[in-house]
Amino acid sequence: MTILWTRLEGGPGLDACTVSWEPTLSLTGTVVTHFPGGPGSVEYAVEADGATAVTRMAEVHVRGEGLNRHLLLQRGEDGRWRVDGVHWPALDGLADVDLGVTPATNTLPIRRLGLAVGEQAEITAAWVRFPELTVAPLAQRYTRLDRGRYLYESIASGFQAVLEVDGDGVAITYQNLWRRVAPAAPAARDPILEPLTTKDFEELSTAVDNWWGKSVSWLLQRFMTVHWSDTSFVVREGGRPIAFLLGFVSPAHPEDAYVHMLGIDPGHQGQHWGRRLYEAFFEVARARGASRVRAITSPSNRRSIAFHQALGFSLEPGDHVADGLPVHTNYDGHGHDRVLFVRPVHEAPQ
Ligand SMILES: CC(C)(COP(=O)(O)OP(=O)(O)OC[C@H]1O[C@@H](n2cnc3c(N)ncnc32)[C@H](O)[C@@H]1OP(=O)(O)O)[C@@H](O)C(=O)NCCC(=O)NCCS
Repeated sequence: MTILWTRLEGGPGLDACTVSWEPTLSLTGTVVTHFPGGPGSVEYAVEADGATAVTRMAEVHVRGEGLNRHLLLQRGEDGRWRVDGVHWPALDGLADVDLGVTPATNTLPIRRLGLAVGEQAEITAAWVRFPELTVAPLAQRYTRLDRGRYLYESIASGFQAVLEVDGDGVAITYQNLWRRVAPAAPAARDPILEPLTTKDFEELSTAVDNWWGKSVSWLLQRFMTVHWSDTSFVVREGGRPIAFLLGFVSPAHPEDAYVHMLGIDPGHQGQHWGRRLYEAFFEVARARGASRVRAITSPSNRRSIAFHQALGFSLEPGDHVADGLPVHTNYDGHGHDRVLFVRPVHEAPQ
């Protein structure tokens, strides 16, 4: 995706930045603007870890009348920074680079911190000034004001700016300094719970191993997203899936509805998405004439067991009891013990 921002204050300016997320988060852009000494341009390239958004490298060229400067920042895996190849201890341990000339690099701490609404965090970034290209640690605070807005504060100077961002954490507006002119982007909205269909298959298939913390993607198969789509749900935030439930009403036992998979993105666990997905499923199961909902999990998944019990599920008797749990030995094949849950659907959710 290539984004074009226009500068609203302090003289003319445009910033065209190409953003990509995986496997490396990269921000590659050109700023054309007016520095105190005259017009000039900046070419920048930033690379960060695709999963953690921790900066790995930033390279900058500044050109203009009497200006031809270059800067290379590199962060090693050990957190040590080099500036133009020379170890720069003042930056050691910092995670983010902040290029003062562009709203692009605010995306790095926004994605890295993953703040919930109302949370704030203090960070120190490797701050690059323009057009001087001096580098220094700069203490900053980010506060998530609502789903799509952050307050940025420079702790030493007291400078404040409200950033409105899209679902990827990329600026739409930066106070009254920058505004995105293309492509148009809706501000990050509240998550939406909607029917799960086969268009969700690929994204969920690549996400679930991370959500479970182990290999489970083989459990999610395309036919389920085709044939159970009228009884399955996905939650999307800013276009990306953050939770889903795959279930069906049994053709052979229409009194039973069955949940095959339920997963929540780790950044959104504990926010009642599991409960809300089950409530949607109870409703559809009830409407289709089912009287019970069944589900299973492995005896080691204590969180899932506590979660199902909190939702009013009871554990079905097993063939033996282990750690106080009724376990069905080899229920899903040799070595795959399970605990079984059941809950009437007529009960109001607890
Ligand atoms: C298990 C999982 C689905 C729970 O979803 P969630 O959205 O985090 O849970 P919710 O926020 O909806 O919690 C619902 C209730 O369960 C309770 N609960 C959740 N985890 C709990 C735990 N570890 N201990 C005690 N209670 C717990 C919550 O307190 C909450 O109760 P409340 O509504 O009375 O406040 C989610 O953590 C997950 O996706 N885990 C990884 C995948 C997985 O194991 N899936 C289940 C097996 S298919």
